[in-house]
Amino acid sequence: MSEPDDEQMHDSPGAEHHDHLTDPDAIAPERAAEAALRPRRLDEFVGQQVVRDQLSLVLDAATARGRTPEHVLLSGPPGLGKTTLAMIIAAELAAPLRITSGPAVQHAGDLAAILSSLDEGEVLFIDEVHRLARPAEEMLYIAMEDFRVDVVVGKGVGATAIPLDLPPFTVVGATTRAGLLPAPLRDRFGFVGHLDYYGPKELQEVVRRSALRLEVDLEAEAAAEIASRSRGTPRIANRLLRRVRDWAQVRGTGALDLEAAREALRVYEVDKRGLDRLDRAVLSALCTRFAGGPVGLSTLAVAVGEETETVETMVEPYLVREGFLIRTPRGRTAATAAWTHLGLAPPEAETGTTPMLGRF
Ligand SMILES: Nc1ncnc2c1ncn2[C@@H]1O[C@H](COP(=O)(O)OP(=O)(O)OP(=O)(O)O)[C@@H](O)[C@H]1O
Ligand SMILES: [Mg+2]
Repeated sequence: MSEPDDEQMHDSPGAEHHDHLTDPDAIAPERAAEAALRPRRLDEFVGQQVVRDQLSLVLDAATARGRTPEHVLLSGPPGLGKTTLAMIIAAELAAPLRITSGPAVQHAGDLAAILSSLDEGEVLFIDEVHRLARPAEEMLYIAMEDFRVDVVVGKGVGATAIPLDLPPFTVVGATTRAGLLPAPLRDRFGFVGHLDYYGPKELQEVVRRSALRLEVDLEAEAAAEIASRSRGTPRIANRLLRRVRDWAQVRGTGALDLEAAREALRVYEVDKRGLDRLDRAVLSALCTRFAGGPVGLSTLAVAVGEETETVETMVEPYLVREGFLIRTPRGRTAATAAWTHLGLAPPEAETGTTPMLGRF
């Protein structure tokens, strides 16, 4: 039986996106589904206790003083709730929210237009703030510090910069790459919240709440099953939940029980540890074809028929984090857990006398 290999519509030809159920990035058609599941208030936001407590203090203190809060930077891997928190901040302040992103601001003039039209107390959310162009970045940190923007009038030698005072506002920046943020910009954020991967209990709570919103009956065991395969990421948990719902409606009894969760995730080839087909292909190439490595990243990518970048950004981080794969200066090597997970016998290096080198 042959099935169409690529039935997914790609949003743009340049967008290198696979039907990758465990990709932490959101694909375009998914945004609406996500928006419907976003918690709206801080007390509905699951997990991230430390950031939540700190943030609520910042917001409450500002409200008590009748001032706008300090600028907030949210950093962390994709799908952990940065955009969600930015929206919550505006909601908690009962302030209007303006949304833009680093790549959307092409010229400093674009940013000047946004800044000069802000109302008092408004929240300006800048997603992917590490991708702002240099001139815009400089304009931003002056605006953040002095609430002033220089509007350039005229062109060439006749051009003059007219300083314009801005009403107080709050910038909320989000970044997956805090390290790429230049120090002067980073220093203008009075509060930096770092989001970390979620634990299984927290993810269970995320899908439990999502199921309520989707008005489906999710059994606790099914929630636990989904949570344990979601790579610590609410976005993936919500996505798996939708697939389980599909399975339950089409092939099952309609109930989102343990069987539905297991069967749906088997159909979509997401295994017990949250690895998908590509993750396993990489591990299996590493363990069998390259005898556990070390092997170069690009060789490994060719072996599974993928772009190097896909393997590096979508596959490797999770495999490394879960202790399946090790990055060494000489290439990638498989950890014992990789063999075990694939049901293979690990090489006998454990005796400590024979190093794994030269097994080829
Ligand atoms: N703490 C949470 N509680 C409940 N749902 C959450 C939480 N964090 C994230 N989600 C859900 O996960 C999805 C992705 O979250 P969000 O868009 O905020 O991630 P992000 O960090 O902005 O990702 P990206 O870096 O890709 O922009 C949303 O549907 C959101 O509802
Ligand atoms: Mg986001």
